[in-house]
Amino acid sequence: QTGAVTYDAGFVNTASCKSAITFIDGDEGILRYRGYPIDQLAEKASFLEVSYLLIYGELPTAAQLDEFSTRVKHHTMLHEELRRFFDGFPRDAHPMPVLSSAVSALSTFYQDALNPFDDEQVEMATVRLLAKVPTIASYAYKKSIGQPMLYPDNSLGYVANFLRMTFGVPATPYEVDPVVEKVLDMLFVLHADHEQNCSTSTVRLVGSSHANLFASVSAGVNALFGPLHGGANQAVLEMLQGIHKGDDTVESFVRKVKDKEPGVKLMGFGHRVYKNYDPRAAIVKKAAQDVMSRMNASDPLLDLAMQLEEIALADDYFVSRKLYPNVDFYTGLIYKAMGFPTKMFTVLFALGRLPGWIAQWREMIKDEDTKIGRPRQVYTGQAERTFVAMGER
Ligand code: SDX
Repeated sequence: QTGAVTYDAGFVNTASCKSAITFIDGDEGILRYRGYPIDQLAEKASFLEVSYLLIYGELPTAAQLDEFSTRVKHHTMLHEELRRFFDGFPRDAHPMPVLSSAVSALSTFYQDALNPFDDEQVEMATVRLLAKVPTIASYAYKKSIGQPMLYPDNSLGYVANFLRMTFGVPATPYEVDPVVEKVLDMLFVLHADHEQNCSTSTVRLVGSSHANLFASVSAGVNALFGPLHGGANQAVLEMLQGIHKGDDTVESFVRKVKDKEPGVKLMGFGHRVYKNYDPRAAIVKKAAQDVMSRMNASDPLLDLAMQLEEIALADDYFVSRKLYPNVDFYTGLIYKAMGFPTKMFTVLFALGRLPGWIAQWREMIKDEDTKIGRPRQVYTGQAERTFVAMGER
């Protein structure tokens, strides 16, 4: 300790802010958005409905949801000059840096939506982000496969529009699969917010300097990209594919994890807060089984994932460390069954988390107690010393 500064490497026990948006009880495996349990919302509410709940604090009436949806639809197209941004990215670019770059660029196109203390401008930035991020995400994918980008079709719902822009081609009409639409909508609900996780804390920290919403969300996208955070859903698939391809047996892989071989973790397991089964993971696991059976898609990687889970949950190494599946363990398998490449998995996480980032930024900017983020440190470097001339070094 130095003076008033104390050092808590765990971080998780140091509250960085107060918030009324999401409640988590990590020991009990409880997650609620604005007081509503996640399992009820996942089963009964649409993603746009949950976005409204997170941002405005209440479930919308039918009229309120319709008005909100209309406002969002009005802004789904990108400025033509922003569409040309995608020409500049290399074909093999990962879509996450493409997403963060394009989201940051929104602040150059919409200078009427940058003032964090003008309610109308914050509303414009909110609606434009919700409307344009799915379009940007689909364009990042189209760029990577050399296909033409499709303009949004506002006769479709929010998720259906995204699916059509992602998988549709100008040559043939695209029929949205209602099963895929419903499951993806539910996965977005499960990802919509999660208290002060790494990327949300980043959005709040950047916004605490009074940076605009586009800039703050772009920073959140970059934080989410890390494999220990949102990048884990891609890393889980790569882990499963490695075992399936024969790099390891399940047993030899688990052995490597327990031996703490450098760079070897059971991806999709463990959590900073949940020391119980992540309630989202249980819902996703069931959805993965449903999707596979309804799409007649059997995937040996799903069997492998369930085998890994069974072994881990019976092994004291994981149980004693309270390591359970988190939201990322099964989601990639569903995204794969839907036809998304692994590089798009974290982009899908970002699409889901977007309303949470927006809600948390709006709450922070409105909170008069918010000060600019300025964490302190415990200094562990050299004591004072005298400068050494070049010739004497
Ligand atoms: C998300 O914060 C959020 O809310 C995030 C998120 C959200 O919705 O925003 O829930 C989304 O990011 C989920 C997490 C996705 N990441 C992964 O699945 C990557 C794999 N998991 C980890 O790297 C890890 O579990 C973390 C990063 C999630 C948590 O890391 P911690 O805080 O260091 O884990 P811990 O303190 O609980 O670790 C305790 C022990 C340690 O071993 P010992 O030093 O005690 O011997 O468990 C070990 C860790 O090494 N451990 C793991 C492990 N996770 C922790 N060992 C093997 N595999 C793992 N996955």
